[in-house]
Amino acid sequence: MTTEIQTIEDVRKIARDKLKGICGVYKDCDGDPGRLCQGQSYGRALGIGGIGSGTSFNNNFLALKKYKLKMKLVEEDFTPDTSYNFFGKMLSMPIMAASVAGVNSFGSDSLITEQEFCRSVVLGCKAAATLGWRGDTYTYSLENSYGINAIAEADGFGVKIVKPRDQETIIKFFKKAEKIDCVAVGVDIDGCGSYAMATHNKPVFKKSVEDIKELVSSTKLPIVIKGVMCVEDASKAVEAGASAIVVSNHGGRVLDHTPGTADVLPYIVAEIKGKIKIIVDGGIRTGYDVVKMLALGADSVLIGRDIIRAVVGAGTKGVKIHMEYMQNTLQKAMKMTNCKTLSDVALDILY
Ligand SMILES: Cc1cc2nc3c(=O)[nH]c(=O)nc-3n(C[C@H](O)[C@H](O)[C@H](O)COP(=O)(O)O)c2cc1C
Repeated sequence: MTTEIQTIEDVRKIARDKLKGICGVYKDCDGDPGRLCQGQSYGRALGIGGIGSGTSFNNNFLALKKYKLKMKLVEEDFTPDTSYNFFGKMLSMPIMAASVAGVNSFGSDSLITEQEFCRSVVLGCKAAATLGWRGDTYTYSLENSYGINAIAEADGFGVKIVKPRDQETIIKFFKKAEKIDCVAVGVDIDGCGSYAMATHNKPVFKKSVEDIKELVSSTKLPIVIKGVMCVEDASKAVEAGASAIVVSNHGGRVLDHTPGTADVLPYIVAEIKGKIKIIVDGGIRTGYDVVKMLALGADSVLIGRDIIRAVVGAGTKGVKIHMEYMQNTLQKAMKMTNCKTLSDVALDILY
């Protein structure tokens, strides 16, 4: 009889076995050059590591590590409220699963199929009362849209991100997402350099303000622009009418030698806070990391690689266990820094 899977460590132990040679499921998932995922030379398949030297992936981790939390304890006792309103949906926490796609990059269909992967993310998040975002890669098409199928099964409880393909195709994806009552849609503009998409006859492009305006006016759903790493792009997303941005370097997978997202976030917050939602990802592994990002001005965060490991370890249940762990650690971080609600999380909790 198999032992009952209950804790995040149970899930990670199974994932460690299944991901042999691909990911070490280390205590610190930091993109360090010594890690299994970074241990090969330029030109290798990306796996789940970072591009090239791994500097961008590693910088996400290092940028977060620089900040320290201020304990503030001589107060009345309370239980922090982590609930978060995302475009009208009340979530249990400001933490969602990132739009990761392509099981072929961390194994093969023998480990899990793309469809089962998407189902596990979306349904596991829903079971933890939060949202699973779904991505896009060269194996996806309008006919085989695994993410949208999974979100449909969850009655629209998800977010669909499309690669920066030609405008007509993106709009068709958005229409499909609209039909199943998706919460929001978007484009990962940092996917415009994707060699994999280009070589599989699915070309990708940089997007102008006019292009984004056209996408915004094509749907009634809120539009998210993911892959913003400078103030100029953030301001242009606002100008184009987007409803949210994700400050992201794609987990350090699209361009070598970019800074960590926690390093660029404050500049973007200073410019556009309050105009649209600011979401951030990259190297966020615990609720302690989450409060740091919220204190720096983010409204919410996404979790990438840890969700892959949760799915590989225990499918839907693994994702639910992982998200509950994130919420528990966020709650602890808020209690110890004296934040009763998310609006209390501010710069003064950081050293
Ligand atoms: C294997 C893998 C596949 C990914 N696929 C996509 C994708 O299809 N679309 C997208 O917007 N981002 C994609 N991302 C980036 C994530 O959405 C997210 O930005 C990143 O993983 C966050 O960093 P973290 O993994 O350190 O948490 C992918 C990341 C990984 C590791």
